[in-house]
Amino acid sequence: MTLSGKTALVTGGNRGIGLAVVRALAEAGATVHFTARSAANIAAAQRALGPIVATGHHANMTDRDAMTTLLDQGFDILINNAGVIGPIGRMLEVSPEDWARNIETNLIAAFHATQTALRHMVGKGGGTIVNLSSGAAHRPQEGWSAYCAGKAGLAMLTWSLHLEYGDQGIRVFGFAPGVVDTDMQVSIRASGINPVSKIPRENLAPAEEPARAIAWLCTPAADALAGQELDVRSPDLRRSVGLEALE
Ligand SMILES: NC(=O)c1ccc[n+]([C@@H]2O[C@H](COP(=O)([O-])OP(=O)(O)OC[C@H]3O[C@@H](n4cnc5c(N)ncnc54)[C@H](OP(=O)(O)O)[C@@H]3O)[C@@H](O)[C@H]2O)c1
Repeated sequence: MTLSGKTALVTGGNRGIGLAVVRALAEAGATVHFTARSAANIAAAQRALGPIVATGHHANMTDRDAMTTLLDQGFDILINNAGVIGPIGRMLEVSPEDWARNIETNLIAAFHATQTALRHMVGKGGGTIVNLSSGAAHRPQEGWSAYCAGKAGLAMLTWSLHLEYGDQGIRVFGFAPGVVDTDMQVSIRASGINPVSKIPRENLAPAEEPARAIAWLCTPAADALAGQELDVRSPDLRRSVGLEALE
């Protein structure tokens, strides 16, 4: 139970990768909290978690007052997981309003959560933040201009945070989870717009795989990797976490 005594908040913890991270952190001994956008989604997550104890909070990531109230509990670990893929479309096909909503969720809300969590972490002399990154942060994909720009911005937030607060015990990681079998990939496959959308479902990774790696990043074993953009497909990282090598 490597994370016992630690408190963690996972944003968007009601399904997909977030839910698997809630489970992995709780299994590692942390006291886990998560956000969801409705009471029904909290209840569904609790049902999926079964005997695993985690506290759900009804909050939209973009609601700064709600997120401040929640984060002022002072967590040791923040997982900036909540994210959206859309709008999917070439630049002449998407509206500026939808584009801005993506950036508001994937980047600005993550900045706000980070800033609020950080005040407490710096006061305590340490803390861990994991930002869910993507291959799209580093390589453009057709039809994903908002998603790519938001995730690229999030990668820069990771590096900036490490530069400014790494020497104050703040361990921050950008973590690309691979191509994972979640609802987000259902929307991506339906679009058919780029090579990622053509990957057959049977080739996608289960959410438990990145979740195990994220729980590992929250332990001191990952100290030397702090401040980096990491990818679950890295052979070295997989070895360290204890994940099977990819073919
Ligand atoms: N799946 C992949 O292959 C993949 C690859 C690279 C990176 N990622 C990243 O990994 C993270 C999780 O992805 P996923 O595949 O698990 O996605 P998902 O299945 O679509 O789940 C997204 C989660 O984020 C929540 N969310 C979205 N907007 C929110 C908001 N404004 N406030 C609060 N919660 C919000 C959703 O809540 P609702 O249930 O209310 O919608 C849901 O819990 C994302 O940051 C994604 O970009 C995923």
